[in-house]
Amino acid sequence: MSSPLIGIDVGTSGVKAIAISPDGEVLASADESYPLSTPHPGWSEQDPDDWWGAAEACLARLPDGPVGLSGQMHGLVTLGAGEQVLRPAILWNDQRTTAECAEIEARVGLDRLIALTGNRALTGFTAPKLLWLRAHEPETYARIRHVLLPKDYVRLRLTGEHAIDAADASGTLLFDVAGRRWSEEVCDALEIPAEWLPPAYESTEIAGAGDQAAAALGIGITAPGPVSVVLGTSGVVFAVLPAYAPDPEARVHVFCHAVPGTWHAMGVMLSAAGSAAWLREALGADLQALDAEAADWEAGVEGLLFAPYLAGERTPHADANARGAFTGLSVRHDRGALWRAMLEGVAYGLRDSLELLRDLGVSPKVGRVSGGGARSELWLRIVASVLNLPLERTVSEEGSAFGAALLAGVRAGVFADAGEAVSRCVRVRDRVEPDPGWVAVYERGYDRYRTLYPTLRPLEDTNDS
Ligand code: XUL
Repeated sequence: MSSPLIGIDVGTSGVKAIAISPDGEVLASADESYPLSTPHPGWSEQDPDDWWGAAEACLARLPDGPVGLSGQMHGLVTLGAGEQVLRPAILWNDQRTTAECAEIEARVGLDRLIALTGNRALTGFTAPKLLWLRAHEPETYARIRHVLLPKDYVRLRLTGEHAIDAADASGTLLFDVAGRRWSEEVCDALEIPAEWLPPAYESTEIAGAGDQAAAALGIGITAPGPVSVVLGTSGVVFAVLPAYAPDPEARVHVFCHAVPGTWHAMGVMLSAAGSAAWLREALGADLQALDAEAADWEAGVEGLLFAPYLAGERTPHADANARGAFTGLSVRHDRGALWRAMLEGVAYGLRDSLELLRDLGVSPKVGRVSGGGARSELWLRIVASVLNLPLERTVSEEGSAFGAALLAGVRAGVFADAGEAVSRCVRVRDRVEPDPGWVAVYERGYDRYRTLYPTLRPLEDTNDS
């Protein structure tokens, strides 16, 4: 019998590691969490050695086997000549780089940037973080010899190897997404030394992928068809494309997928289960109680709306200064109402991404869900109804870590390719249908939700505190 396959996901709240059999049965799992620091408003950092410590602790509790890695995307890890970490990593949801994004689009030219990288410059991506360091921490910048993304730092500590996969490299803004290799043209225009970047491979060659591509693989999404809907700290709607085709306005990201020769488009909201974590903490209650109280409210919560822009936003409003809000509060609203409005507001945010994908010709008949938020039955019914799309759950709920374990199996030769890994290991468990009564309410709610951002946004320009 072949050995178990290990999948490690280096997430934002912690590491999740699993061991699976070659038939996709989860044999063991381990979790370790770590802190996130926000030394200034809008900043988001972590210590790379916290990721490594957590990964090591998880691995010690699992059987041995080939390892695949997935992780939070876009984070900048800078290493010096001795491979020492130079400063805390700057994460995907950090918002300090608005000026550097404008600089990148000016240096490369927006149309050329979109044609080359599939994307425009967004504050969360990696390249703007490097330009920020050059401008604000020149002593650190001068010492950089290697740049890695989060899970690739864990790989370095685990195996000594510098490497990245095309899927995660796509989120750096330094990658030629059509050609699946580093873009000399972008590196030159930004004056970023290409020798800092690790060799890039296909995900199946190196057993690694950014967490969104890994999550999609882990729920069986290898080709155009079902969309991946992720309720993690971030919220994502993700579709495999028939070919590389960037959105001319780059309203959604277009990246390499973890399956060689394929690409995907996705919209990413920054605070999905992140909104739930924030509100639960603020209300000081447990999730089951909040879901039960929210279920007592009618859909639409008597007009209460939640704008989920707690950490700024990426899709559809690429705006570091967007902020969250509850509007339409009345004395009747209790904490169950706040909770339900939050669940609905995040679902509307996902609908924004789905609509942008539809504009690109994506027309899904079903979604597949993963991420911690997918454990809530109520949230899934709300999301299915807001998207008007049935949502399937797979037997394994491990999403990205499961996808990473499948990649470990492909690299080790247990599976011939990603398609075989999926057909042997991924099974649909059940399906959550849209609630017909809610669908109509949420159509009207979505129209109101879309007016929130343009209406509230001017207030932030007067916020000088
Ligand atoms: C994707 C993104 C997030 C992080 C979260 O573009 O920024 O989904 O990968 O881990």
